Amino acid sequence: MTEEELYTVYKGVYVVSSVHTPESLKYFEEFVFRPDDIIIVTYPKSGTIWMKEIVPLIMSGGDPAPVDTILNWNRVPWLELQQTASLKLEQRPSPRLLTTHFQYNMMPPSFFEVKPKVIYVMRNPKDVFTSSFHHHGAASVLVDPGPQTQFLHKFLDGKVMFGSWFDHVKSWLNAEDEDHIMHISYEEMIMDLKGSVCHMAQFLQKSLDDEAIEKIADRCLFKNMKKNNMSNYSTALRELLDQTKSEFLRKGIAGDWKNQLTPAEAAHFDAVYKDKMKDVKYTFAWD
Ligand code: A3P
Repeated sequence: MTEEELYTVYKGVYVVSSVHTPESLKYFEEFVFRPDDIIIVTYPKSGTIWMKEIVPLIMSGGDPAPVDTILNWNRVPWLELQQTASLKLEQRPSPRLLTTHFQYNMMPPSFFEVKPKVIYVMRNPKDVFTSSFHHHGAASVLVDPGPQTQFLHKFLDGKVMFGSWFDHVKSWLNAEDEDHIMHISYEEMIMDLKGSVCHMAQFLQKSLDDEAIEKIADRCLFKNMKKNNMSNYSTALRELLDQTKSEFLRKGIAGDWKNQLTPAEAAHFDAVYKDKMKDVKYTFAWD
């Protein structure tokens, strides 16, 4: 199906009509944050599910119970998702763990008043594109990606769900009051998962000993997390996500774009990236 049939334009970006209904977007806009909420923010396919494993384990001090027993979309709910209102988040004890895929400027008023802690995860956009291309081939609520070059143009133009990767990353890098926002990249987590867990625990003011950090990092390795049925989407309906076409936990590596993009596509991507990111001073792990 086409974008027009599957998506709605919300504040200038595409959202999936079937799961981001007017009611769920209103719920998001009126959401009341608490100062001790912890929010994982990502552009889709940047490592959201990975973070939904890591952060609950940090907060439980390494106790695996939350990730072994609670499905990841309930464990760390998406604020903009249709079923979230039914989770009664206002009754959950603090600190609540939440997620969103929205840009900084799209956050609701309460977010700017309360300034809860945010961990923003970024990933090499060529790998985001690669992961997204495969995911679109498996998820029925998303538009059929069509030929790769065509989908690449849509991705670079921001004509995909949650809009432009460039706008998203720039919005969260330019966020005001930066001390409640931690930026981390998928690539840093791949290179040094233990160090990344330690860094996140410090940001979340959670004191963990070496053994706990080691245990968390081990559980969150791709090969181990893939076995967790509470996280690997094995319970998702095949009509919604056909993992025989592409698994949600697909490859879990940095640099898979090299196996996906043609030299011409990669060169075009680089040229667009250079232009759109020319004013960004941040040094990314993938540069
Ligand atoms: P690939 O498709 O490149 O494998 P999101 O959760 O934001 O949709 O991101 C999904 C991507 O994160 C997928 O990338 C998935 O495999 C990867 N991922 C999930 N868990 C991971 C882990 N433990 N280690 C490394 N990558 C992981």
